[in-house]
Amino acid sequence: MRRFTSVFLSFLLFLVLLSHVSSRPPAVPARRSIVGETCKQIARDDPNVDFTFCSRSLRSVHGSDGADLRGLAMISLKLAVANATGAGSRAKALLKGGGLSRYYKSCLAACGDVYADAVSDLRDAAGMIRSGRLVDARVHLSAAVDAPVVCEDGFRDGGLASPMTEEDGDLMQLAVIALAITVRLG
Ligand SMILES: *[C@@H]1O[C@H](CO)[C@@H](O)[C@H](O)[C@H]1NC(C)=O
Repeated sequence: MRRFTSVFLSFLLFLVLLSHVSSRPPAVPARRSIVGETCKQIARDDPNVDFTFCSRSLRSVHGSDGADLRGLAMISLKLAVANATGAGSRAKALLKGGGLSRYYKSCLAACGDVYADAVSDLRDAAGMIRSGRLVDARVHLSAAVDAPVVCEDGFRDGGLASPMTEEDGDLMQLAVIALAITVRLG
């Protein structure tokens, strides 16, 4: 009798577990990552953005995969500000080098100016996103996207190799990512 009871109870337990398992939503697709999904869309829509760069950059910030889209916009802005600031310091350091032509120096100085403008545009955009002024934020983000282009154009127009190509490429991508996420916010 005892034995029967325990077999019966095991069977009941089995049924309970079975119903529990089968009533759960299918767990087949892994939890989708907001960073992965967002970067996939942005890279698909804009040839300037590389998927790997996008996901690596956003994931370098702790908590990005638990963030919502707005949080992700803030993260991309923070990264872009850091990039524009770093690019500005580099342009300033290069300007101190000797043997530079007047034209080359004027290019570096112009890059420094557009990076400084980009930093304030990016900061303004962050404040505007916080207060829900998304259209205004987009205007400032578009200006930030242009900054690295302006810097590169100076050197190109003079037939010179830009020393800022890598910085400009990174900054461009981060600004495009911030703009694309902001567009998705509404
Ligand atoms: C610019 O951003 C990229 C990607 O997040 C990063 O790898 C790089 O170190 C940043 N550069 C600066 C100067 O912050």
